[in-house]
Amino acid sequence: MYNQNPTLEGINKTIDESKQGEVFFQEKEAGATDGKRFYIESYGCQMNFSDSEIVASILGEAGFAPTRNMEESDLILINTCSIREKAEETVRKRLRVFDKVKGNRPGTLVGVLGCMAERLKEKFLDEEKLVDMVIGPDAYRDLPGLVAGAEEGEKGVNVFLSREETYADISPLRLDSNGVSAFISIMRGCDNMCSFCVVPFTRGRERSRDCFSVVAEATDLYNKGYREVTLLGQNVDSYKWENPETGNKVNFANLLEMVAQVHPDLRVRFSTSHPKDITDEVLHTMAKYENICNYIHLPVQSGNSRVLDLMNRTYTREWYMERVEAIYRIIPDCAISSDIIAGFCTETEEEHQDTLSIIEFSNYSMSYMFFYSERPGTLAARKLEDDVPQEVKKRRLQEIIRLQNQVSFKHNQKDIGKTFKVLIEGDSKRSDQDFKGRNSQNKMIVFPKKEGLKPGDYTMVKVLDATSATLKGEIV
Ligand code: 5AD
Ligand code: SF4
Repeated sequence: MYNQNPTLEGINKTIDESKQGEVFFQEKEAGATDGKRFYIESYGCQMNFSDSEIVASILGEAGFAPTRNMEESDLILINTCSIREKAEETVRKRLRVFDKVKGNRPGTLVGVLGCMAERLKEKFLDEEKLVDMVIGPDAYRDLPGLVAGAEEGEKGVNVFLSREETYADISPLRLDSNGVSAFISIMRGCDNMCSFCVVPFTRGRERSRDCFSVVAEATDLYNKGYREVTLLGQNVDSYKWENPETGNKVNFANLLEMVAQVHPDLRVRFSTSHPKDITDEVLHTMAKYENICNYIHLPVQSGNSRVLDLMNRTYTREWYMERVEAIYRIIPDCAISSDIIAGFCTETEEEHQDTLSIIEFSNYSMSYMFFYSERPGTLAARKLEDDVPQEVKKRRLQEIIRLQNQVSFKHNQKDIGKTFKVLIEGDSKRSDQDFKGRNSQNKMIVFPKKEGLKPGDYTMVKVLDATSATLKGEIV
């Protein structure tokens, strides 16, 4: 399946493209507040969507109520992504739209949040006269103060990157929630220096959140009726937290186990795993708990060791293949997905073939596929020549997409006749006569409704038909 969605390398995503930029929250009842309203759009990875929920909570505390209608908002926020140039172009287009709204409603403030804010800092205010506030990912607590300043006509910037901030004490305001699945950030930032990636510069140093606050958040979600949590981090396998009182150390496998024990009916997912760090201990923990889903997002980026070295991924093709084998050995019915970059600096045709062959070897259920887009300030931009012509990048990307589609199709065809435990998420997109939900392997299954069942319930579904993107089935 091809999806343009940025993922976190490190963090990853299941936000479908249709949701990019969507304003998403459970609106407070109309008229419930006479106070100020904010409108927020999010782009990029799951981490950004999760951050917007923290922002919403901070603004809620400051007396702002959310609205879905930017035309009636006093504050328009856009949570931005810098991962590829295209993501930044989209944001700039949206700022033009916000400016029109501002024209009709003088006094409306516009704030830029997230990675693009961090990357461009003060420059944003010069480049985009339309913007009143620029706030980086670690500065959201300062938002109410910056809004107050902007109301007085003072444009504000806070792009301070923290070594400690994890927003552990903030209870996210669940935006656009289906009431069934939610994200929990377990760490922030990234210490890997993949040469193509802007994230270490926009999200700062890696830090892990107190494990007890994670478990408390998961428990609270379960008590509110949620049945699935996705633990988010740019590189979850390097989660580490030390209890300052006891000195006990908690790694990702330990955290996963703690969250799995919240309740057997609470499904646990996580994203993203780094091939260099994913341990057998994590795999055995997954195998031990039925409610830890059998799905791993394990971005390969390239199937060739020389290119991986230039990317500074710190693993080889052989290392990656060994990790894939370990996954299938320890969790036989696990699904693996990937992120792939076509046409990285100096990539040859043979090296591109290695990427194609690793897709088949790994038997990915799906991948997020991109052509290389040079990002200012990254190691690659400074040290390597972006010398693969655009047409070649695009052609290689098409070959990767075509192959992944075939692999996904076969992967899904193999599910025909099998029965899966599915967590119902809501009505299918096409028909309100059908439910949609995911199996443990993170595959979406659409099936006719049955009376008595509702979102948040589990049901057994037999797969009857499959495309490269979805499964269709019936309740058994
Ligand atoms: N160009 C293209 N794709 C990129 N990604 C990250 N940086 C770039 C870039 N400069 C992809 C990687 C990563 C995903 C989130 O986005 O595949 O895993
Ligand atoms: Fe998320 Fe920022 Fe990375 Fe985009 S650049 S995927 S918003 S962390």
